[in-house]
Parts: sequence; C-alpha cells; structure tokens
Amino acid sequence: MDTPPVIRLSPPAGRALLTWNGKRLPAPLTVPPAIEVERSGATGRNMLIHGENLAVLTWLLANGYRQRINLIYIDPPFGAGIDRARRRRLRGSASTRLVAVPDVEYHDTWEDDAYLQFMYERLIALRDLLADDGSIYLHCDFRKAHLLRCLMDEVFGAERMLNEIIWFYPSGGDGERQFNRKHDTILLYARSDRWTFNYDQVLIPYTPRQLARFRQADEHGRYYWNVNPRGERVKTYLRKPGIGAYDVWTIPIDAALVRDVGYPTTKPPALLERIVRASSRPGDLVLDCFAGSGTTAVVAQQLGRRWIACDVNPGAIQVTARRLRRMPQPCDPASEGFTIVQIGETTPAPRGEATIRIVRTDAQITITVEGYASPALTTVSGDLSDWRCMVDEILIDPAYDGRLFRPTIVDAPQRRSALVSGVYTLDRRTTGALLAVKIIDVTGGEAWTVAPKDGETLTF
Ligand SMILES: C[S@@+](CC[C@H](N)C(=O)[O-])C[C@H]1O[C@@H](n2cnc3c(N)ncnc32)[C@H](O)[C@@H]1O
Repeated sequence: MDTPPVIRLSPPAGRALLTWNGKRLPAPLTVPPAIEVERSGATGRNMLIHGENLAVLTWLLANGYRQRINLIYIDPPFGAGIDRARRRRLRGSASTRLVAVPDVEYHDTWEDDAYLQFMYERLIALRDLLADDGSIYLHCDFRKAHLLRCLMDEVFGAERMLNEIIWFYPSGGDGERQFNRKHDTILLYARSDRWTFNYDQVLIPYTPRQLARFRQADEHGRYYWNVNPRGERVKTYLRKPGIGAYDVWTIPIDAALVRDVGYPTTKPPALLERIVRASSRPGDLVLDCFAGSGTTAVVAQQLGRRWIACDVNPGAIQVTARRLRRMPQPCDPASEGFTIVQIGETTPAPRGEATIRIVRTDAQITITVEGYASPALTTVSGDLSDWRCMVDEILIDPAYDGRLFRPTIVDAPQRRSALVSGVYTLDRRTTGALLAVKIIDVTGGEAWTVAPKDGETLTF
C-alpha cells in the first residue's frame, strides 16, 4: 500500500511565551483523502468542507493553498464549559414549537491544556495558509482571550498584532454578581508587514450634526469648518466621507436571524461584513475553519469574495448550505456556486426515512414525497401528521451521475411558516438515467434516494 503524503508546518514566527502540560509542535500531518459530494450553482470554486479542521488545513496545504488565503476569520469554541444544544423548530403552523432533539450541536467542554494544544496546532497551520498580505481574525471571549493572545503572539509574532477589537452586543440578561458580560474580543494579526486594510471601506458615516459644521466652501468648492474642538480657528476639510472605524464595535445580535438560522452561536452578518470589507478585496480568498452556520461564507459570497468554510459537525454543513442556496445569485461570477467536499473521516448526518413515489409518463416524471419520519423526532409530542412540518429542504438532481449530487430543483422555503411542496414534475427530456432525491429534516436528519429514470412506477 502507498504511504500517504505528509505535510510539515513552519515553526512559529514569534517567541514562545506560554506553556502548558504537553505543549508540543505539531507532528508531520498525514494528508487525508477528499471527495466532492455535492455541487450547487454553475461553478464549484467555493468550498464547503465537512471535516475535522486540522485534517482540512493539512489537505489545503497539500493542494495548492499554502500562502494563498487572503483573509482568515475563526470563531472556535470559547471553552465555555457547556455543550451547545441543538435547537431546531418545526415548520408551518407549528413553526413556533422548538423541537427537543436529544443531541448537541457541538461540544465546548475542555481541559485548559487540551484547548491550548488544539488551538496551537491549528493556528500554526493557518499561518502557513495565509498569504503574505493576509490577516487573521480570532474571535474569543473573556474565558480564553488572554491565553489566545499569547498563542497568537507566539505563532504570528507580537509585532504582527494589529488590533484587539471589542465587539459589544447590547442585549438582555443581568449580571447580579458581576458586571454584565456583553462583549467578545476579536484579535487581529497580520502575516507580514504588508497586510491589506481597506480603510475607506469601513468608514463610520458622519452624523447629520457633524456634517452640519462643514458648511463653508473654499474657492475650489471643498467644504470645511474653521473651529476645532478646542475653539481655535483652523480650517478642517471634509476629506473623507466618514470617520476611520474604531476598535470598539457595537453591533446588535439579530434575534430573528438567530432563530431563523437555528444554530446556537450564529454571529451577526454585519460583524463579518466589516471584517471582510476591511481586510480583503473582491475576488480574494476567505477561509473560516470553524464555520458553524456559515456566516463568513454567506457574507464573503455577498461581497464577491471566494471562500472556503469548514466544520466537523454535519448539522453546520446543512445549515450553511441552506443559507447559501437561499441567497440570490451574486452578480460577480467569481463567487458563483459552491461545492461540498468531505475530507478525512466524517460523521454522517442521522438517517431519516422517506416514502417517495415516482410515476413516469412518456413526457414527464412526477416525484411525490408521501411521508417522512426522523428518529430524532420521536421525542416530540403533538401533531406531526403533516410530515412537511419536519422537513427543511428537498433537493433533486434529475441527472445524477452516480457520484456527484448536483441538485437543480431546490425546495427550501425561506420563511419558517412555509412548507416544502413535496410534489415535483420533471420534463423527461431534461432528466438523465438516474434521479437522486435528498430530504433534510429540521433536526439534521437526512434521507437519500436514487432511482432509475426508466422502469416501473416506484415507491420507496
Ligand atoms: C462558535 S461556532 C462558529 C459560529 C459561526 N461563526 C457562525 O456565525 O455561525 C464554532 C464551530 O466550530 C466547530 N468546530 C469545533 N471543533 C472543530 C474542529 N476540530 N473542526 C472543525 N470544526 C470544529 C463547531 O462544530 C462549531 O460549529
């Protein structure tokens, strides 16, 4: 048997500052296999990767991405000491009912030493992926921010630290034994001394009151005001359309979006928008290897950047893919479509069971989903007689090649009160020899059916 290739990582750039039990440099990493399993849209240039991220980063390093990533944003588990519960809702008239799924979305309980070694290995690999003018944002909170800052200093060099950003999210909740904890910390580091920072893309617009001061125009028509804040007479011109952004950001959490996305730690798109605009250009490559609900990928796609997003949790891949499929087609062809790739060993989504009837006539093929059952939903009380309240999406590839699923019929209603249709009529001339149907339920279960185009009426 051939020995799989291995990848060696560069040593950290800075001085070692922090130590822990079992601290060690990463051993050479064996390159895992990868398979493309699904493609949406015209091109598969953007990648949604299901896999453990050290394996994924190793694969990227071995496949031409070394120093090719322009921007990295990561939002790893915070070491909160709790496992993040899966919180999903039924659809349709039952859409206000939270589904009790006996499952966690992801684990966030760690021993300090294990957490630090986990982050250390990934940060070293991420540094090797980062382009010379690239930068990395590491999102964390009070639990680990101080430790992660030391790790970042060691891996990237303390002189590469650009900002400690404070994201303040005003919201409910009272701290009665200490001050309310309402901010996260985002550490921004550059790969070298020539990082990208698009200052003009993140200006804070002037308030009408500030603008009102600039009412005098000089002989060239440029506006200025002639008293500075200390009351001295100096000409201050309005040179830019706003004020340079601060390192304290007040961005509220959009509760409706969090509910709709259905992932426990979704970040606001406005937060990622500021990061992507500031530190990348259209067409650049953005990476998030703790993707969760895929906010980075969604925003990168919206802003015409290419992206790679990865998560170990099959539920995260489903949620991200759903958000991306619902997006309007972007105008920039560089960001069109995405491909789902599995790297290394992955945990499959739980299996649901569907009853599907396929009726063929000379001109048409009609696929009718007649029922759906998910093992995870047996714990839910109440009326589940309309199976559609359990189903988030139905995807159909009318010309399945037996290898890569390319759904061209996507029934994924946006509003939670809306239901999938369940009946799909295909023109026989546009179908291939095999039809493939995938059903994804609200708890993250999946049912998968492949049927020949020709043959008798089939019921699964
Ligand atoms: C805080 S969430 C990210 C949330 C994301 N920023 C968003 O807006 O939805 C952290 C994610 O990291 C993922 N994760 C944890 N360990 C991982 C690993 N070793 N490889 C890949 N993903 C991992 C978890 O499954 C979880 O989805």
